[in-house]
Amino acid sequence: MQYILDTADISFIKKAIDLYPIEGVTTNPTIIAKEKGDFKSIIKGIREVIGEDLMLHVQCLSLDAETIVKEALYIKQFAGKNVSVKIPVIPEGIKAIKILKSKNIRTTATAIFTAQQALMAANAGADYVAPYINRIDNILGDGAKVVSDIVQLFNINNISTKVLAASFKNVEQVHKVCLAGAHSVTVNKDLFEKLIYHPYTDLSIKTFISDWEGQYGKGKTTLDA
Ligand code: E4P
Repeated sequence: MQYILDTADISFIKKAIDLYPIEGVTTNPTIIAKEKGDFKSIIKGIREVIGEDLMLHVQCLSLDAETIVKEALYIKQFAGKNVSVKIPVIPEGIKAIKILKSKNIRTTATAIFTAQQALMAANAGADYVAPYINRIDNILGDGAKVVSDIVQLFNINNISTKVLAASFKNVEQVHKVCLAGAHSVTVNKDLFEKLIYHPYTDLSIKTFISDWEGQYGKGKTTLDA
């Protein structure tokens, strides 16, 4: 299970990469637009911070296969080696995924709401499929069940495409897709640190420190005792 950051906020990415076992960064047009800068500089800035090895997912906007492929080739020029081009699962997007597969360019099929969309994208050659959990839950669907169906379909058909679950608003959604067999989760900056937060953890630490300091003195650690 891989943790991925769903943000283009450079200072958060820098901080999170330092602290956590992060495997990559995903962006989409909304995430990029929020940064209010030049697209190419934002992507290059993220690559600079995450280094060459981590995966960077960058989305195309065109609606016809020919121009989607052009966008993918353009993005490949400056997004670094380990890049996957995000393409929505519309018919022309599926066609673009097929073309890019033949050119050995990695793709992430995105805006997925159903398991059939994921299966079609995987058969077209997508390396990742990105089901939108919170957006599915918001329309009375079951995001975790969609992930579990996708995982089952991929297993039955011996498909190596990875499930990169996206669009989360709470920890429970993330937890459920992990249990459903997602290979990766991409989590926004507001939610990411909540994944490990627990007030009882903080309370336990407070007690440990107070007991220790009672015996060995204020500010002391194992290095001083
Ligand atoms: C991935 O990058 C997706 O586009 C993203 O997780 C969507 O999240 P949202 O539904 O919170 O906008």
